[in-house]
Amino acid sequence: MIRCCIFDLDGVVVDTARYHFLAWAELARSLGFELTPAAGEATKGVSRMASLDIVLEAGGFAGRFAPEERECMAARKNDRYLEFVGRMTPDDVLPGVRPFLGELHARGVKIVLGSASKNAGTILDRCGLRPLFDAVVDGTLVARAKPDPEVFVRGAELAGEVPAACVVFEDAAAGIEAAARAGMRSVGVGPSPALAAATLRIAGFEGFTFDRLAAAVD
Ligand code: BG6
Ligand code: MG
Repeated sequence: MIRCCIFDLDGVVVDTARYHFLAWAELARSLGFELTPAAGEATKGVSRMASLDIVLEAGGFAGRFAPEERECMAARKNDRYLEFVGRMTPDDVLPGVRPFLGELHARGVKIVLGSASKNAGTILDRCGLRPLFDAVVDGTLVARAKPDPEVFVRGAELAGEVPAACVVFEDAAAGIEAAARAGMRSVGVGPSPALAAATLRIAGFEGFTFDRLAAAVD
């Protein structure tokens, strides 16, 4: 039985994963190195400061900066990221997402956002998505980042559902692990081999239906 679907935001509902990558890549370049796609992949789903650590380690800078310098770098990256976000419109919602959310709503399935991002509210508003969600849990509301299950556990609580009734949609390995640790089934969205542990894998939401979901995970 599926009574609640919990969606990651970046890379699942909107294509902001590439903006995160571009902004981190600019920071890396300012430090004198190119960020590899593999290091970019590892930043997916994890908190801003944990992402910074991954980027610094990729450039050989692990442990080299004081906390104030790290805060400053994270703020620079976020300012750049918000420039990209500031140009987003409702057209930036990924294909098939709105129809799928509409179908869930029509069937009475709860729709919850479970994102590590502190910018999730801004993105939901820019893309006109906020009214479609029954509950929103973002990086401002959780203490422990994915792969800790806190964000999804809180989401299920807000929706008034038990973990076994929830399915998580994620584009990041950290999110798939968080779903499993929360006792929830998961759908890995996108081509990354890092999503192999998901209950079901889909390329995207175009043509995806609740019946397909239920047939695959129930
Ligand atoms: C996640 C992204 O959704 O949010 C990560 O996948 C990002 O890449 C994290 O680091 C935190 O986002 P923000 O917007 O608070 O820096
Ligand atoms: Mg994501």
